[in-house]
Amino acid sequence: FCILQNVIVVLHESLPLQAMFICILSLPLFHTFISLLTLFLGDVRVRSRAGFETERRGSHPYIDFRIFHSNSEIEVSVSARNVRRLLSFQRYLRSSRFFRGITVPNSSNILDDDYNGQAKCMLEKVGNWNFDIFLFDRLTNGNSLVSLTFHLFNLHGLIEHFQLDTMKLRRFLVMVQEDYHSQNPYHNAVHAADVTQAMHCYLKEPKLSKSLTPWDVLLSLIAAATHDLDHPGVNQPFLIKTNHYLATLYKNTSVLENHHWRSAVGLLRESGLFAHMSLENRQLMESQIGDLILATDISQQNEYLSMFRSHLDRGDLCLENANHRHFILQMALKCADICNPCRTWELSKQWSEKVTEEFFHQGDIEKKYHLGVSPLCDRQTETIANIQIGFMTYLVEPLFGEWARFSNTRLSQTMLGHLGLNKASWKGVQREQSGSGDDVDPTFEEMDSDILPQEPRLS
Ligand SMILES: *[C@@H]1O[C@H](CO)[C@@H](O)[C@H](O)[C@H]1NC(C)=O
Ligand SMILES: *[C@@H]1O[C@H](CO)[C@@H](O)[C@H](O)[C@H]1NC(C)=O
Ligand SMILES: [Zn+2]
Repeated sequence: FCILQNVIVVLHESLPLQAMFICILSLPLFHTFISLLTLFLGDVRVRSRAGFETERRGSHPYIDFRIFHSNSEIEVSVSARNVRRLLSFQRYLRSSRFFRGITVPNSSNILDDDYNGQAKCMLEKVGNWNFDIFLFDRLTNGNSLVSLTFHLFNLHGLIEHFQLDTMKLRRFLVMVQEDYHSQNPYHNAVHAADVTQAMHCYLKEPKLSKSLTPWDVLLSLIAAATHDLDHPGVNQPFLIKTNHYLATLYKNTSVLENHHWRSAVGLLRESGLFAHMSLENRQLMESQIGDLILATDISQQNEYLSMFRSHLDRGDLCLENANHRHFILQMALKCADICNPCRTWELSKQWSEKVTEEFFHQGDIEKKYHLGVSPLCDRQTETIANIQIGFMTYLVEPLFGEWARFSNTRLSQTMLGHLGLNKASWKGVQREQSGSGDDVDPTFEEMDSDILPQEPRLS
């Protein structure tokens, strides 16, 4: 077993080298080659069938953004190795059973061993709005997305209802978690776990819970868990101005969201989680997950919001209607995605710091390569407080205001309460820093997809 595990680890260890090699090859010729390849393959990551999906990590063939994260390199390789061990272990279990001809009749024991008592205890309160996802992530040894989503599938009876193979589900979730970039300060698997937890809270709201079908719940949880899959840690304008192949592939439109969706579809197919369903249902699932993920493109927020507003004005939302239900789920996922300012100050503040770190990091790269610094990304002129106040004023408050009209519950009031308090706290910080207090960053007012920087793209 140990020998096999080491072999697998060694295979994985060779990856950074491979990625660096690819970086060195970022010549125009290579660029053209990849563009051509992309035309043929679509957004399919090039990978070898024989290996242990080693190519997964190099999913951006010619810009490997990891080279820019030099200061967090050591931390990254340690945590990446932990995940690899987990994967290798799972694969070892599966493959050894396979070779011995033993099937896995009951896997719940293996699954339960992964997280300790404290994490399990936290999961009993998974529906609480003040759930501390950072603590949960530490208690699960960096596996918050896998543990939380698996638990929610079980809690909502999805495993039973859809006759899911728990090993396939587990494997799917591990692949999802692994395809998030742990070196991104913000757009990583913990953000995905946080959004999934928020989505669960919204699904429990009376208006939704009494009309949602298991199918709706299934799609919502998968979309939440995968909505930022393989996020490169930079925003769409950055991908466009660096001629990234994804920008070409998706014609400069919802580039990241399209990629998150296609990545999710790739993993769904690869895992075979729904192989027992009809092709028709699988295709329906893929397209509906796409509708949910694409809704998280914040540059489209005004369109979604005005539709939501006119439905609420007319009072014509009918949740027995599947189209209306799915529209509400899109709005719910949008809320879950940008709900950071609606959490308690302690949690909210940590998210703000992380997202700002990611913006500023992009700004640093843009400076270094003379690409022109994107709005909100310049650490010389921006502050966390300014960014947060603008974000809350132009994006979060309007969205959650309408959500509270739709679902006027204690949760909605709690969220609006935190939002107000957090904004006041950032205004306090702003006053301390500048002496004046009413600066609202106007960047957010320019709701244009080409101007909107990373923050609105909290998706
Ligand atoms: C699987 O294991 C659990 C817990 O050990 C047990 O309650 C359940 O009955 C088992 N299911 C089957 C199909 O053996
Ligand atoms: C995407 O934007 C870039 C830069 O503005 C432009 O050169 C390119 O033609 C655009 N591509 C499409 C398909 O619109
Ligand atoms: Zn997101």
